[in-house]
Amino acid sequence: MTLHRFLLPLAALCAGTSLSAQMADPLAPTGRWSAYQAGSAQLPPMGWNSWNAFFTHVDEEKLMGSAQRIRDAGLARKGYRYINIDDGWWIRRRASDGRLMIRTDKFPSARVKGDPSFRPLTDRLHAMGFKAGIYSDLGRNICSQAYADGSEQLPEGSVAEREVGLYGHADQDIRLFFADWGFDAIKVDGCGIRAYAPDAERVRSGQYRALAPLIDQHSISRSNIPAVKALFAEINQSLARHNPDGDYMLSLCIWGSANVRSWGKDVGNISRTSDDISPDWGRMLTNYDSAARRALYAHPGSWNDPDMLFIGKGDFDANHLIEAKSHFSLWAMMNAPLLIGADLRTTPQPLIDIFGNADIIALNQDQAGNQAVMAFDADGFQILVKTLAKGEKAVALFNRGLAPVDAILTADHLKFRADRPIALANLWTGERSSFMRDMKLRVAPRETVVFRARGDRTLADGLYLSEQPGMVNPAVDGVVQPEPDPTIYHSIPNWRGTRGIGERPMYAGWGGAMADFTPYNQPLVIAGKTYGSGIGILANSRLEVHNAGFARFAAQVGVDDSALDGDQAVRFFLYGDGRPLASTPPMRRGAPAQAIAADVKGIKLLELVARADGVRGNAVPVSWGDAALLR
Ligand code: GLA
Repeated sequence: MTLHRFLLPLAALCAGTSLSAQMADPLAPTGRWSAYQAGSAQLPPMGWNSWNAFFTHVDEEKLMGSAQRIRDAGLARKGYRYINIDDGWWIRRRASDGRLMIRTDKFPSARVKGDPSFRPLTDRLHAMGFKAGIYSDLGRNICSQAYADGSEQLPEGSVAEREVGLYGHADQDIRLFFADWGFDAIKVDGCGIRAYAPDAERVRSGQYRALAPLIDQHSISRSNIPAVKALFAEINQSLARHNPDGDYMLSLCIWGSANVRSWGKDVGNISRTSDDISPDWGRMLTNYDSAARRALYAHPGSWNDPDMLFIGKGDFDANHLIEAKSHFSLWAMMNAPLLIGADLRTTPQPLIDIFGNADIIALNQDQAGNQAVMAFDADGFQILVKTLAKGEKAVALFNRGLAPVDAILTADHLKFRADRPIALANLWTGERSSFMRDMKLRVAPRETVVFRARGDRTLADGLYLSEQPGMVNPAVDGVVQPEPDPTIYHSIPNWRGTRGIGERPMYAGWGGAMADFTPYNQPLVIAGKTYGSGIGILANSRLEVHNAGFARFAAQVGVDDSALDGDQAVRFFLYGDGRPLASTPPMRRGAPAQAIAADVKGIKLLELVARADGVRGNAVPVSWGDAALLR
């Protein structure tokens, strides 16, 4: 349990809500923000990770070589701070006391008087201005033991000595990593709770001990979500205990399984939304899609992680600068962690220049923390819009296909006034231009054109909630029956040919809350009236909204016309710091939108609740049309 979870009862009481009422009713207001606030990731983490470049063949020279290049090339100054060791660093868990032993043949500086220690390495990284990251697993055994080709840099020794994961050792290991060795970040993988079933060949052969899987990548019903959460809760407790200053970063790596795309935000600083990326265009699309429509699930302190950058290899090498720039642009727009996965000792300068594009980095690191929202999405072409701290916008026009596209960017896409000039700066070419109403441009195959845009906002005196997804948390998103998300491009990680049945839709989350669209990706429509702005969510949901100093909240609410069940009645409630502010009578599909509004001056946290009593499965989609905070 994290510290903030311990604080929940207190916060709830302060907000005038009894704890028992809340436990019984997840829609009861709490007066508190429930997404992850512990650790230190107010902005998406930036840095480097060893996996994509070296897999298990990581060593000190490779790691320090890349760290040095980050410094020498000026990337450190631009924000790349984490130097993370992935799988491959351990040799065994010592039988006598369970202490983890480092491969000192690969990390010579760990050879110190007494027990091997990463302290000299983290000291060096810290002296260079970096933060240091380490890697472990929720289970007893790890990913490389299950999936690596060959045995290079796998743990050695007896079955027990090769159990290097956190399972049964979480507090001991986290103390070692953070208090003794001085790490600042940990990536926690999940193969140990997925790949060691009693009937797995690696277990039956006696190589590894069985651990009944808690996760099944292909099946929510075969995943034990509470048990997985309990393991992360234990890790969070240890992280709090061994990092008194709270300066750590927790990276969840269960690849979008166990419905983590909806709850990862409550448990760690970054959370993987898909299986591993590979240096293939199609796979990049899969990973991008797994996070691209999840803007409301990313906030300062809790970000979607579509995996590390694979710029430097395959479809993203120096012969594919268009693809490499697209990959980088999309990750920046999504507020994904910018973790370089290349061997920087040999990375050609044009790719270093991509990592170093300060204007693109600035979008990712913008203080407001808003992930981009999809403004246009059809036929292999997408327009993503991200609201920046000072009301400016970033817009990315992304051509997924192999033919050039003649696109039109409109003022509407940007929620800017069409009758006023809109100034654009192209963040890849530096070109400046301006337009009124709309603008034509040609986007090359696989290109992403990125502009910073300034104009007069349509909503002059406030911000739509969908323009500030970083401030909106679907604490309860109403998805009680998680279904695979059909908007994710299917591509098998690390293409192995056409044996088997291919990859079926497997990442749950279809029906999750959306900015400007219904949970099923339709326009927001109440009784025939379309809302270009708003929040779409299923009923039986509770949204938490930070109020950054606004005076008034207003929305037009109702059951969305796309609801299949016309009988469900939904009531809408607005709360401020846990207290009721406004509500509607029960509404059904077809009923005209009702205004719900209140003075919210001085209120820190709003809660938007939609209740459909008596519904057991997923309730109907509801729309908070034009929902906005006003000055
Ligand atoms: C999993 C993770 C990867 C990497 C490897 C290491 O596959 O998803 O990112 O950490 O394990 O074995």
